[in-house]
Amino acid sequence: MDTRTTHISTADIDRQKEYCLAIKAVYAARGVTPLAFVDTYGCQQNEADSERIRGYLAMMGFDFTPDEKQADIIVINTCAVREHAEQRVLGNVGALVHTKRAKPDQLICLCGCMMQQPHVSEKIKQSFRHVDLVFGPHVLWKFPQFIHGLLTRRGRIFQTPDEAGSIAEGIPVVRQGGVKAWVSVMYGCNNFCSYCIVPYVRGRERSRDPELILDEVRQLVAEGYKDITLLGQNVNSYGKDLDNGMDFSDLLEQVNAVPGDFLIRFMTSHPKDATQKLFETMAKCEKVAPVLHLPFQAGNDRVLKVMNRRHTREQYLDKVRALKALIPDIVLTSDVIVGFPGETTQEFEDTLKVLVAVRYDALFTFIYSPRVGTPAAQMDDPMSREEKLANFNRLVALQDEISEEKHRAYIGKTVRCLVDGVSDDPRWALTARTPGNRLVRLDGPTDAVSKFMDVTITDANKWSLYGELI
Ligand code: SAH
Ligand code: SF4
Ligand code: F3S
Repeated sequence: MDTRTTHISTADIDRQKEYCLAIKAVYAARGVTPLAFVDTYGCQQNEADSERIRGYLAMMGFDFTPDEKQADIIVINTCAVREHAEQRVLGNVGALVHTKRAKPDQLICLCGCMMQQPHVSEKIKQSFRHVDLVFGPHVLWKFPQFIHGLLTRRGRIFQTPDEAGSIAEGIPVVRQGGVKAWVSVMYGCNNFCSYCIVPYVRGRERSRDPELILDEVRQLVAEGYKDITLLGQNVNSYGKDLDNGMDFSDLLEQVNAVPGDFLIRFMTSHPKDATQKLFETMAKCEKVAPVLHLPFQAGNDRVLKVMNRRHTREQYLDKVRALKALIPDIVLTSDVIVGFPGETTQEFEDTLKVLVAVRYDALFTFIYSPRVGTPAAQMDDPMSREEKLANFNRLVALQDEISEEKHRAYIGKTVRCLVDGVSDDPRWALTARTPGNRLVRLDGPTDAVSKFMDVTITDANKWSLYGELI
């Protein structure tokens, strides 16, 4: 396998755009506006990829539909991180046999991380014969060429080359909503945590050119976006593969210097690469939101070591203390895995201790799921499902208590929030976010959407805050 990053040329992307126009002509000749259904599983990286798929589809002349039965093209962008996500995809793809039977020229396309696993694409080839196209994340930029191939030749297309990964600039993007935007700053992961499939399906770490990132941010701010999230599997590795000496803190500072009234968020940060410099940069950059998602996964040092996380509990807690000293009102969130192979209940209790020490505002909790080809999948895993579930429930109960206490501490305060959407609940017509990204439900006019507004918090529970516009 080639370990270098492939930079896709402008000419290659222009060729893809020509395919888009050729596809548009095919559907125009049929005299209809074609419809596409795009469904996305997994993380924000996948959401960002789906925005590119929609961008290409729009260039092909497609409108979008939420109804797979009406769609001329169905694209399902999949996630491989846990078995549950995979089972849902397979169930939904299986059901598409019926939509295809009713609409035989429908094209069914599967992409994303799950497809990059050889045993999955093989299973689709053998057992899901109604699927027309399977492609992996590394060749997403060729999506128009694949669709053109399906429309002009017979046969199915399977394209999941195993590469270190590419960077493709200039793919059109259709974003959803006009308030929040994702900006990928890097792709891939080099960390190989022993439970995780991501490095196998997303390739090696590769950073985008900072000038192109800044251009994208300027463009988004000009279009009125107010909340910009810089994305990568481990943004703290940004720049390590560039030869300009830049790191993620430098990038944050440059994004912060873009004129305009907007917030900057970023995810995800690996604790081993979260530095004092990063914390100081967060503290001094006024547009960088006071929030950090810093996954710790487990609280026991033996478990952390077998997970290949390359930090101890104390090192993690030291970083949290340093950050809190600089930004006392920092909102902290994390990811936790319960039931890693060999983790005892006593070791799991060290995870609970981290919750008590840090007091996260929210936590994303997962029961360990073995992933084919990862080292952890080979490890002895003697604990029963029931015991894992009991530990999981203890974790969730403790976090619920902490979240509720932290949320209730907002009551009576006035917070500058970004109104980011409308809700179907007539009592709370609007949704908003605090700078630390806590959800606030409130009543008010829909033209408040996309504005920063002062909100007095009147009530709270473990999930959200409730407030009034002033
Ligand atoms: N790059 C990000 C996380 C990507 S996956 C990071 O390192 O923080 C998101 C989360 O899914 C992980 O943080 C982890 O908590 C969880 N996860 C990953 N693999 C898993 C597995 N095999 N079983 C259960 N949870 C897993
Ligand atoms: Fe997975 Fe670890 Fe990479 Fe995150 S840092 S994507 S958990 S291997
Ligand atoms: Fe899932 Fe791939 Fe993201 S495995 S979590 S969609 S990088």
